[in-house]
Amino acid sequence: RKRYALFGHPVAHSLSPWIHAAFARQTGIDADYVAIDAPDFAAALAAFDGDGANVTLPHKQRAVAACASLGERARRAGVVNTLSRRAGGWHGDNTDGVGLIRDLTGRLRLDLRKRRTLLLGAGGAARGVAPALLDAGIGDLFIVNRTPERADALADALGEPTRVRTRYFGDLATLGEFDLIVNATSATRGGALPELPMALVGPRTTAVDLNYGEAAVEFLAWARAAGGREAIDGLGTLVEQAAESFRLWHGVQPDTDPVYAELRARQA
Ligand code: ATR
Repeated sequence: RKRYALFGHPVAHSLSPWIHAAFARQTGIDADYVAIDAPDFAAALAAFDGDGANVTLPHKQRAVAACASLGERARRAGVVNTLSRRAGGWHGDNTDGVGLIRDLTGRLRLDLRKRRTLLLGAGGAARGVAPALLDAGIGDLFIVNRTPERADALADALGEPTRVRTRYFGDLATLGEFDLIVNATSATRGGALPELPMALVGPRTTAVDLNYGEAAVEFLAWARAAGGREAIDGLGTLVEQAAESFRLWHGVQPDTDPVYAELRARQA
């Protein structure tokens, strides 16, 4: 029986073990998937002799150093959320970007092309989705992060200076409306997001929070109150990124619709 794990801190409330168990049942694959609370990522991974793993906050950037090889998506993003054991060591990949794009353009049928986009955050989640957003054909991308150096580092890594700019939280009121706003901060999981001006949102704005459940309430309520068109939480992205990890490990593409539907029904 193959064994998989999710490393994060905290991970107790993660839905990933349930999602992977559902995929395994659906596809008839005999695999085990457990959440491991790992304050020290390197030590926890060294003690793990399973076949693959997911990595979540706050370890996604750290996981790069644990890899003997990286897939294209992980290299570009500088973050790993999926590890596969190979003869030479861990192979790192990133499925967050594919997950977000499949949720928005597949499940929700949104057209992202030319959208003027604001990305809040420059940590592991933001790095994972930024290259995929650019590939999906969005327009200009503005990155705002509490620690401006991390926003600059992400913009540099993306390597498209005419399309990607960084701004300070304090500049937000001067930036005008965006067609797409993605909250990739973990702020609402711990404390609170810095105050966001309503002028960022117009009647055509789609707001996406990569968080889900309680942690997505504050940002999405702000977007609705500001008059945006859609307010989307990260549940669909979570299921889609899990499906892509599952495909990398098992070579089988699970059907995400019933799994998403059941989770959504439970969240309601
Ligand atoms: P993740 O994998 O969820 O991205 P992370 O790599 O720890 O986790 O990144 C967390 C992100 O949320 C960062 O962009 C962080 O900003 P800093 O780079 O300045 O730390 C952002 N964040 C966390 N708490 C925040 C808060 N209270 N206000 C604003 N941004 C916050």
